[in-house]
Amino acid sequence: MKTKLLDYIICPSCLPSENSLSCHAEDQAGQDIIAGTLHCAQCGAAYPIQDGLAFLLPRALPSAQAGPSKYETPASLSAYLWGHYADMFHDPDASSAYTDWSGLLNPAPGPALDLGCAVGRFTFELSQKFDFAIGLDNSIQFVTAARRLMTQGRIDFNLIDEGRLDTPRTITLPSNWDPGRVEFIVADALALPFKSGLFSAASSLNLLDKVPRPLVHLQELNRISRNSGAQLLLSDPYSWSIEAAAEADWLGGVLTGPFAGKGRDNVKELLCGRRTDSLSPGWDVRDRGEVWWRLRNHANHFELIRSCYITTVR
Ligand SMILES: C[S@@+](CC[C@H](N)C(=O)[O-])C[C@H]1O[C@@H](n2cnc3c(N)ncnc32)[C@H](O)[C@@H]1O
Repeated sequence: MKTKLLDYIICPSCLPSENSLSCHAEDQAGQDIIAGTLHCAQCGAAYPIQDGLAFLLPRALPSAQAGPSKYETPASLSAYLWGHYADMFHDPDASSAYTDWSGLLNPAPGPALDLGCAVGRFTFELSQKFDFAIGLDNSIQFVTAARRLMTQGRIDFNLIDEGRLDTPRTITLPSNWDPGRVEFIVADALALPFKSGLFSAASSLNLLDKVPRPLVHLQELNRISRNSGAQLLLSDPYSWSIEAAAEADWLGGVLTGPFAGKGRDNVKELLCGRRTDSLSPGWDVRDRGEVWWRLRNHANHFELIRSCYITTVR
């Protein structure tokens, strides 16, 4: 973990109180802490840093799921490495989704945060536009892959073709992408280990419908964003499911209740409207639209997802 993050992070277990963490580094290479512990004097929580990867999950996990995560399987690593970087190995089926989303944000000073970054493509895109970009995800294999791309500039993986057949592939990042402007951590999108008002841009791509408390996710996005001079990009297919969240917690897709109607409309009202539960300070809509996003499960099986975005500023 880059030492730069020490200025940004707080204890995720103490939220909503914002308590700083002290760092005991056991192994450090320049500005990179390879092994050590982040410690909260207030609650006593200890967060390990192993092989450069910081684990900043709260002690009582708001996102605890029963059973293993589908994002920790070899199949999902293949699907997401292809989805994020297929253009880098010139796959004719690659989509332009991440560069399309990136085009929706204006370059600005300050740090940016990519929530649910998976294997990191959009975090790297953010690092081209902001002073520094942090990607976070609660999938250890995804963040490990993203960090390998950051530290090595490349990753070898097995692209699943069919059943047990696969093809070795290598992703090599463009040489002008600066790994010094990026970091990846394991953390929970519902308990962000960051100080309030820190980020000049935040993104949540295809995550809102995957977390157990979508409203808490929005509130956390709002908390860590600057009160003025901030941009937000939220894009989602609004595939509500009881596997991810209880129906009472969906922000749309229901006939009655506070979030009756479509998720994209309710999210706009939460961000920019005058609901009693609207976020504060409020945001102004800059743009709304759709990005077609593609994942590849195997050579003959793709998922095509219409991700509905909103960009807001304040
Ligand atoms: C549908 S994928 C989208 C990934 C990426 N944003 C993209 O658009 O390509 C959802 C991602 O969110 C991560 N995720 C799910 N719940 C999370 C949580 N509570 N905190 C952090 N990451 C989470 C998953 O591990 C996965 O990488």
